[in-house]
Amino acid sequence: MERIHIAVLGAGRMGCGIAQVFAAAGHPVSLYDTQPAALAAAPATIAAMSRALGQEERVGSLVFTGDLAAAVRPAGLVIEAAPENLALKRELFQRVEALAGEQALLATNTSAIAIGEISEGMAAAARLCGMHFWNPPHLVRLVEVVQADATADTTIQQAMSLLESIGMSPVHVRRDIPGFIGNRLQHALKREAIALVAAGVCDAATLDKVVKEGFGSRLGVIGPLEQSDLVGVDLTYAIHRYLNADLDNTPGAHPYLESLVKDGKLGMKTGEGFYTWTDERGREVKARMDEFLARQAREKLSGQSS
Ligand SMILES: NC(=O)c1ccc[n+]([C@@H]2O[C@H](COP(=O)([O-])OP(=O)(O)OC[C@H]3O[C@@H](n4cnc5c(N)ncnc54)[C@H](O)[C@@H]3O)[C@@H](O)[C@H]2O)c1
Repeated sequence: MERIHIAVLGAGRMGCGIAQVFAAAGHPVSLYDTQPAALAAAPATIAAMSRALGQEERVGSLVFTGDLAAAVRPAGLVIEAAPENLALKRELFQRVEALAGEQALLATNTSAIAIGEISEGMAAAARLCGMHFWNPPHLVRLVEVVQADATADTTIQQAMSLLESIGMSPVHVRRDIPGFIGNRLQHALKREAIALVAAGVCDAATLDKVVKEGFGSRLGVIGPLEQSDLVGVDLTYAIHRYLNADLDNTPGAHPYLESLVKDGKLGMKTGEGFYTWTDERGREVKARMDEFLARQAREKLSGQSS
């Protein structure tokens, strides 16, 4: 395998995970951040991710740096995972394109900002694509590779092959639309979920139980369109003709969600959101999710190596 120097910009939640997956696959990685505290915390975070997967800790092979030029100059791929702020990302990429080699691929891990808005005015816009990793990147293999109008086809091909070569599961998003594919689907579901709770149809726990123990229990093995074909497209058609007009279509955020935010009910971090939380219950839920994802990821990794 050709080793490609990877520069990851932003050593937060996503940047550490992205750095871990490339380092675990044997690529040299530089992790850049503007905050010394983030750089100091990153090695232990990355080592813990490797341990969760039963992988060798390769933290010694990573370079943690506050020097953008040192991270970007040798890179064949630069992945930006800095805060979700258009002005910040634009400014960072303008500096990156002046520092990076002429062949370097450039990628942004933005959750929702259109890639074309970030690359506006960049000379290297053809080499920039979206590379939307999911949280946590070391456990969730899907990556949405997003093509903006200016992104060259070769950029997409190279990004997809590199991600496949390290065991990630890339998909090509052919148009630069807000939320890409995954977040559009996820938030279409959340929109209806919030509307049901707001209308008093059920409480949050009932809603989540219906998803987890109902259709959600099969989503990991059969997608919604496969399932439509399984039961017959005519059934989906009949249901949509009857039901769609009744589904929530509130423009913007639902007033119920807005009132939670206004009341400071922000979820686990404030002790209340859709549920009431203690620190212990929050830790339990997080551990449950991490262990579930880690088990799946370990099974996939052992399948790939056998
Ligand atoms: N958290 C998620 O679930 C998730 C999922 C997919 C994509 N994303 C996207 O990934 C990006 C990073 O999110 P996160 O959750 O890791 O955020 P985070 O706040 O955990 O980390 C961001 C890091 O960027 C650093 N930073 C600030 N200014 C910088 C600069 N100018 N250059 C380099 N680094 C800088 C911060 O010090 C921090 O360490 C965002 O665009 C976010 O929308 C997040």
